Amino acid sequence: MAASPSPPQPDYVRRHLRFGWWALFAFLLLGATLETLHGFKAGFYLDVSNETRRLMWTLAHAHGALLGLVNVAAGATLRALPELPGDARIPLISATLRAATVLLPAGFFAGGVTFYSGDPGVGIALVPVGAACLAIAVFLLARAVSSPSRPPAPTEKRRRNG
Ligand code: HEM
Repeated sequence: MAASPSPPQPDYVRRHLRFGWWALFAFLLLGATLETLHGFKAGFYLDVSNETRRLMWTLAHAHGALLGLVNVAAGATLRALPELPGDARIPLISATLRAATVLLPAGFFAGGVTFYSGDPGVGIALVPVGAACLAIAVFLLARAVSSPSRPPAPTEKRRRNG
């Protein structure tokens, strides 16, 4: 009986490049929005009594933009090391990195929507979950990059050669 062909592997390089560039675009727009709030001296953002909101939304913007760049770096890393996309750890790395890119800035942003004096709102609970996802992704990717290289799997080779 002929061996059944292995299911096609997701294109992790393109997935992270696409996700990263769109995340960067979205969080740059958030930066531009914050800039506009400064321009109009918006009290709900700039008043001293609302400094928790300003801190949380600045953190959402900064973490989102940086995580967008981390995704682009991950895509470039996967492209630079041809054996990596076939590594068994890559599906988990990809999922946790994308989850972190959503959860960290979303948690900061939600924490600034409603807040209690100096304490961010309950949405901030997403932040430690996102941080744990990011730690897993970065640790596993560092391990995968440190593993001795092996030739790409035959399916991977075929795809690269067209
Ligand atoms: C890769 C791109 C970017 C990164 C990594 C980034 C990162 C950061 C960081 C780390 C801060 C916090 C600075 C601090 O509080 O000391 C910040 C604040 C800020 N960023 Fe960006 N930024 C980027 C692009 C932009 C763009 C394109 C805009 C506007 C068009 C923007 C608007 C702002 C504003 C208005 C603040 C201050 C918010 C406030 O304190 O009220 N950023 N950004």
